Amino acid sequence: MPALETARQELAETYNLAPNPQLAADLADLYTRMDRVVTPADWAMHAPYVDAINKLKKEKNAVILAHNYMTPDIYHGVADVVGDSLQLAIEATKVKEDIIVQCGVHFMAETSKILNPAKTVLIPDMKAGCSLAESITADGIAQMRAKYPGAPVVSYVNTTAEVKAASDICCTSSNAAAIVRAMDSHTVIMTPDQYLAQNVAAEVPEKNVVWWEGSCIVHEQYTAQDIHDFREWNPGTRIIAHPECPPSVVEASDFSGSTSGIIKYVTEQKPEKAMLVTECSMASNIADALPEVDFVGPCNMCPYMKKITLEKILWSLHTLTEEVKVDPDVAEKARIAVERMIDLSRELGI
Ligand code: 13P
Ligand code: SF4
Repeated sequence: MPALETARQELAETYNLAPNPQLAADLADLYTRMDRVVTPADWAMHAPYVDAINKLKKEKNAVILAHNYMTPDIYHGVADVVGDSLQLAIEATKVKEDIIVQCGVHFMAETSKILNPAKTVLIPDMKAGCSLAESITADGIAQMRAKYPGAPVVSYVNTTAEVKAASDICCTSSNAAAIVRAMDSHTVIMTPDQYLAQNVAAEVPEKNVVWWEGSCIVHEQYTAQDIHDFREWNPGTRIIAHPECPPSVVEASDFSGSTSGIIKYVTEQKPEKAMLVTECSMASNIADALPEVDFVGPCNMCPYMKKITLEKILWSLHTLTEEVKVDPDVAEKARIAVERMIDLSRELGI
């Protein structure tokens, strides 16, 4: 992306992006999905971007795959497919359009490219990284293999293509325990999330799970004390934690699951009050569909996910820039690890 001012000027010359209450009213069907969390004034500002992006998608034969941590204006306004990391990887295998715009972080866009080498994959901000993906390189995988000879390497999808290529199979938070259980070895190496690995180790005690010491800067901030204090101050709140949280937090919570697992749980259970121990946009994205649930308590923002904005999506679609490339040899090896995960998940009924 060029300097923000230059990009803004070009966008303003091409599209009518001024706040537009009339357009906001015309797009009321989209707004009703987020009116509990987005003010009418904010929607009047978002609507011109939403409208321009949705028209450009058709014109350029593009599809937007968005993670559950995107803000509601993206999640409800422009996304064609939303989901957790596993769902987005599976959906990426079915894309018919020529262009994929990945609204999420860089490793997700790389996964889409690995699965669709012939398609153009755009990420609206190249700097949308991930503390987990940055915590390990292929050399780290080699170190773990040297330390635990013969043990299979199960790498979280929150890794670079090089790390995936050096791994035996990938996993996500929704299939990690099942994949580790299915490995034909007593010792299983999990990288790079130490907390996901420790949560899996508790769930799969028959395996000797060993791990890399990476962590997610969003979920590592929660403590068991936070959960106990919150319960005391807010009795009756259902507390739901993502498995990237430390095991003591997961143990103190009522349920733990992937982002889509959390959505499913809250949608089915409809607790009166719920605290989602995860990224902030999760509660915002489901608030309108669940008016009977009061979402309470703290949340932590992912600074990487929040780099993706409507303005940057519009810019990448307008210019077809911010394209994700993966070295074909690396992509071919990484694809084996990702496809093994998808195939095994299907086999296990996940
Ligand atoms: P899931 O959506 O797979 O639960 O992953 C959460 C996450 O942190 C993605 O970056
Ligand atoms: Fe990475 Fe954590 Fe942000 Fe997900 S929430 S992208 S794991 S830093």
